[in-house]
Amino acid sequence: MFSGESAPVVLGIETSCDETSVGIVRGGELLANVISSSMELHRRFGGVVPEVAARAHLEAMPQVISEAIEKAGISLDELDAVTVTSGPGLAGALMVGVGAAKGLAQSLALPLYAVNHLVGHVSVELLRSEGRDLELPTMALLVSGGHTAILLVRDIVEDVTLVGDTIDDAAGEAFDKVARLLGLPYPGGPEIDRVAREGNPAAYAFPRGLTHPKDREQHRFNFSFSGLKTAVARWWEKNGDPEDPKLIADVAASFQEAVADVLVSKAIDACQEYGVPRLVLGGGVAANSRVRSLAEERCVAAGIELRIPPLSLCTDNGAMIAALGAELIRRGRPGSDMSVPAEPTLNASIPQAGLPVQAELPPNTEESPAGDEDPLEHAEKVDEAFTGLVPKVAPSSRRERKGQSTWLGTIALSLGILGLALSPAFGIGVVPAILAVVFGHVSLGREEKRRGSVVIAVIAGYLGIAVSTVVGVILATPVIRSLLVAAGFLLN
Ligand code: KG4
Ligand code: ZN
Repeated sequence: MFSGESAPVVLGIETSCDETSVGIVRGGELLANVISSSMELHRRFGGVVPEVAARAHLEAMPQVISEAIEKAGISLDELDAVTVTSGPGLAGALMVGVGAAKGLAQSLALPLYAVNHLVGHVSVELLRSEGRDLELPTMALLVSGGHTAILLVRDIVEDVTLVGDTIDDAAGEAFDKVARLLGLPYPGGPEIDRVAREGNPAAYAFPRGLTHPKDREQHRFNFSFSGLKTAVARWWEKNGDPEDPKLIADVAASFQEAVADVLVSKAIDACQEYGVPRLVLGGGVAANSRVRSLAEERCVAAGIELRIPPLSLCTDNGAMIAALGAELIRRGRPGSDMSVPAEPTLNASIPQAGLPVQAELPPNTEESPAGDEDPLEHAEKVDEAFTGLVPKVAPSSRRERKGQSTWLGTIALSLGILGLALSPAFGIGVVPAILAVVFGHVSLGREEKRRGSVVIAVIAGYLGIAVSTVVGVILATPVIRSLLVAAGFLLN
């Protein structure tokens, strides 16, 4: 990465969870990284309370910014840009950071770079590489209390892919919940790590989520920790004893082994599948001693280079956000629009948010990842990030899907009504009625927006078939027919 006196001085603000952090870099050189955590305030709740975190960010922000400026030994007017995490993360918490960054950028007349938190974790490598270029491609395993993801980074600004994600709890969340169950304080990760040192990791075989052969196709690189958490809870309900430290240590060690095993196996499997020779760890759970040792052991065996940043750069920090901002500047990227919002579900494949729509990008770059994107596709990506599922095949666009199902529903409804209307006329309504039922059932099987009209079509279709059949049978029976003619209901 570029460095030296000419490199831009960038201030990065990170507030996606419970850490209020401000980092300052000069190109690839780290000048300051100040972190203030509101963890203590969340302790009595056993987990991060979003509103409490947001308020704590608001209170801590001025002090953290001043401290970072002081530590970096610069004055505010030496800054060249302001960078901020715009997502993913807790909405209220992100808003405080984005608001502060906008205020700072506006008042100092500096460009604002709104960036992705997950890509920020990988950007730590830009700092550690001390003047060398970041080695790419790399896989990144990012595990904290808020996210559990595998990213494939071919280019940190232009080519980031979310390979795997959690479909329920984040790994750190599972550590925190199991710790609470075992009577250990919050945050549970470091406590389980400490207690597990005295335990036997093979004492209990707890489940490894989404590792069954049947999960391979759809969830090969995705994670699930809620089954493991429930299995430990059930086991503890039946056999637990809060007074038995040996038992607590064995359960903690066995749980930790299950988490470490799944995290490391899936990350290495992803490296091998995509032919990527290196792996970066990031997030609070990367501090876990078993996750680290297992990753080291298995990466050596698989011939994969493992990079684990120092702890202060592993957990959420402003330095990684500043580093990503500095890289965007080096690549000639324009600043984000001042109207850029906090985006709690920002997709990992979008390193920079809020690119101005008409932004002139350097000639060798592809289209801007966010600004020029079709809003429908963007909404789909956001949905994907929200559910945490990587779709097996790219879905057809929302517009097409909706059009298709509306069509089927309309045909079914028209046929159903036609069938019903024609059914008393010599029973000939049976054909449209049968078609209405078939189209109706096909529509019901899809994501039908006009479900009500399709249900009416199906009912009308069935009624049409019934009436047509009755009328048909009556008309085809000579005795009934002659009686109806005699009674004047029917012409001969
Ligand atoms: O990255 P981080 O500081 O903040 C966010 O969640 O964004 O990660 C905190 C999470 C907590 O869930 C904590 O329990 C977990 O990381 N953690 C650990 C360890 N240290 C922190 N989990 C397992 N072992 C550890 N040594
Ligand atoms: Zn994080």
